Amino acid sequence: MAGLTLSNVTVRYGGVRSLDDVSMAFERGVCGLIGPNGAGKTTTFNVLSGFTVAATGSAELDGMDLLRVAPHRRARLGLRRSFQQEQVIRALSAYDNVRLVAEHTRSALTSVGRALDYVGLARAERLGSELTLLERRLVEIARCIVGQPRLVLLDEPAAGLDPTESERLLKLITGIPDEVGALVLLVDHDMDLVRAACGTVAVLDFGKLIAFGSTHEVLASAQVRRAYLGVEDDEESAC
Ligand SMILES: Nc1ncnc2c1ncn2[C@@H]1O[C@H](COP(=O)(O)OP(=O)(O)O)[C@@H](O)[C@H]1O
Ligand SMILES: [Mg+2]
Repeated sequence: MAGLTLSNVTVRYGGVRSLDDVSMAFERGVCGLIGPNGAGKTTTFNVLSGFTVAATGSAELDGMDLLRVAPHRRARLGLRRSFQQEQVIRALSAYDNVRLVAEHTRSALTSVGRALDYVGLARAERLGSELTLLERRLVEIARCIVGQPRLVLLDEPAAGLDPTESERLLKLITGIPDEVGALVLLVDHDMDLVRAACGTVAVLDFGKLIAFGSTHEVLASAQVRRAYLGVEDDEESAC
């Protein structure tokens, strides 16, 4: 099946189940993964990208069993991710930060220029240390679309940006499926951004999937509002 399907994924750290028998499927476009701090969002990305090994379960990407592929080979199959704390290498130029991904994934160097053009980063010869936070976030997006990505995992890509900058990033993120044909999975705490970007959303809480479906319906559900948005039923009825 095209897209990403997680089936019965469990991750344990000692006694803590960071993911507890999680199953969910994303087909296309930009999809959201939300939940309170500690819910298991980053753990989900770590399992998919190979930083963490799942105790049980599988993850199929376009029909391939991703968790059986060695982590260093997953990028070549089209997996890309960004990190909650951006990971732009300060001692390298913006161009070289992106080129590294092209080399690692054996993608054409022409895709480096295309990715930098897409995010609109000027003067890519500047060092990572000379870039603003927004520009470093743009480099991360560029790295995620180099070559032929199938799945792009974005972990709080707008963290630390002001509303105007977030808006610019949002436009780039929502354009990724059309630009490179990849499925995008977006983790973010900004519900306006999630509402604007994601057709489908999954909600985790204490490692369990508590809701999944169209963003509009999921964000309106009382259970999600209680668990995630901190809205009590009586507050809702008072509105
Ligand atoms: N390397 C680790 N060792 C121990 N516990 C971890 C580790 N990584 C995550 N956890 C725990 O797993 C849970 C989920 O964490 P995480 O996936 O980072 O949450 P989120 O990204 O949703 O905020 C938390 O309770 C966290 O403390
Ligand atoms: Mg996280």
